Amino acid sequence: MNDLINSSLEKLKEKNIPNAEIDLRVLLNYSNYSKNEIILSNFDLDQININLFNEVLNRRLSKEPISKIINKKNFWKDEFYVNEFVLDPRPETEGIIEESTKLIKNKHYSIKILDIGTGSGALAISLAREFINAKIMAIDISEEAIKVANANINNKKLNNQIKLKHTTIDNINEKFDLIVSNPPYLTKKELENTPYEIKNYEPLIALDGGEDGLYFYRDFSKKINNIMNVNSYLIFEIGEGQFRDCIDIFRLSKLNFHKKAQDLQKKDRILIYSKL
Ligand SMILES: C[S@@+](CC[C@H](N)C(=O)[O-])C[C@H]1O[C@@H](n2cnc3c(N)ncnc32)[C@H](O)[C@@H]1O
Repeated sequence: MNDLINSSLEKLKEKNIPNAEIDLRVLLNYSNYSKNEIILSNFDLDQININLFNEVLNRRLSKEPISKIINKKNFWKDEFYVNEFVLDPRPETEGIIEESTKLIKNKHYSIKILDIGTGSGALAISLAREFINAKIMAIDISEEAIKVANANINNKKLNNQIKLKHTTIDNINEKFDLIVSNPPYLTKKELENTPYEIKNYEPLIALDGGEDGLYFYRDFSKKINNIMNVNSYLIFEIGEGQFRDCIDIFRLSKLNFHKKAQDLQKKDRILIYSKL
């Protein structure tokens, strides 16, 4: 194997970077002059911009996540532009899309959807893909996140279907048929102990759920009923171990508990409420 490959792999492994081979291949392809995919076994140095490669390798060695280096993350059926101002969309959040498609069987319904805390726009865009006649409003308190979501919506030519608003739930005066949210839900303690990659490269505003992590669930439980149509659903993500607390909190909401859904580790991560 080529010397550059060997030495780079060694450095990545020394820093305990998981999946060093995969990351190295991604970084080489990021620095690739041509569009032909580079594979490690028949790599030729002339294929890459070596200065760019050294720069991105050093970023990875200092534990910056690959997604933030290459500004890309896959979610559901799309690739999204991401940067330091948005949370990387996570596989467990795809459960919200999965549950939406189970609940609303007719994909041609012209339903109204609200995505609270849209970040990169991953949920809003994936729902637009599934429900092609839906009208979607996506909101976020972070102006920088709105810019990222806007870039993703433009890239995918979904401007007619998704309207972005830099606002919070307090300024929403319409009613919706489906409301989705993956709000910030880490407790103060979890935030302190969160891995370096998350603490340093994901925005705090996307993670911080207040002292006990439950701030947004309390807020939603008081306000969300007013912005839901009759026969509508609310689907939201919760943190590990928050199921019981959320059930208690949502007793106030006057909504009906419909079901919970689990992630691949069989942990309760998604709650669904309905308004009949
Ligand atoms: C956990 S991230 C979720 C991002 C995206 N929906 C996803 O699932 O990948 C939470 C998002 O909520 C936004 N946010 C935080 N507080 C908010 C508030 N009061 N109102 C609206 N959005 C808020 C953050 O800026 C962040 O983009």
